[in-house]
Amino acid sequence: MPTAKVVFATITGNNEDCADIITEALEDLGVQVDESEISQTDAAEFEDYDICVVVPYTYDEGALPEEGLDFYEELPDLDLNGKIFGVAGSGDVFYEEFYCVAVDAFGKAFQKAHASQGAEPVKINLAPESEEDLAQLDTFAKKLVDSYEAAQK
Ligand SMILES: Cc1cc2nc3c(=O)[nH]c(=O)nc-3n(C[C@H](O)[C@H](O)[C@H](O)COP(=O)(O)O)c2cc1C
Repeated sequence: MPTAKVVFATITGNNEDCADIITEALEDLGVQVDESEISQTDAAEFEDYDICVVVPYTYDEGALPEEGLDFYEELPDLDLNGKIFGVAGSGDVFYEEFYCVAVDAFGKAFQKAHASQGAEPVKINLAPESEEDLAQLDTFAKKLVDSYEAAQK
């Protein structure tokens, strides 16, 4: 059974909701999941899991979560070769070119740590409420597991 770590950053709860949906979808696929808040998590914990997921908010026109900066800076220095990663997050399309830029930034950090992208990044506008949002997050989880399984062959 694969294991997964889902790490979220949130102020008003939307990204925690996204993380909860991803966690539940992974569990439904038979993955053993640990979910935690970013300021309570050491990035090196990813070394103990098969599938690594970050779900960050974006603030102040492109700013990363303040309480997640230590985590973000530690991530690229890890050796996550052989791990599957995915990044999903909620932002607000109102911020146009800054929409969910934290999602892209964490994706680059994972790549520097030599993890393999298991699913395309998912960007959710505000709360994950619509059928489409839920379907996107479920598909994200499924792709992560499929990529993990393909890598075992
Ligand atoms: C002051 C402020 C700045 C924000 N800046 C951005 C931004 O640059 N890009 C973006 O996509 N969303 C931005 N947002 C929107 C939040 O990312 C969005 O509401 C998100 O769902 C919050 O996630 P949370 O509920 O997990 O805290 C901003 C919101 C506030 C209040």
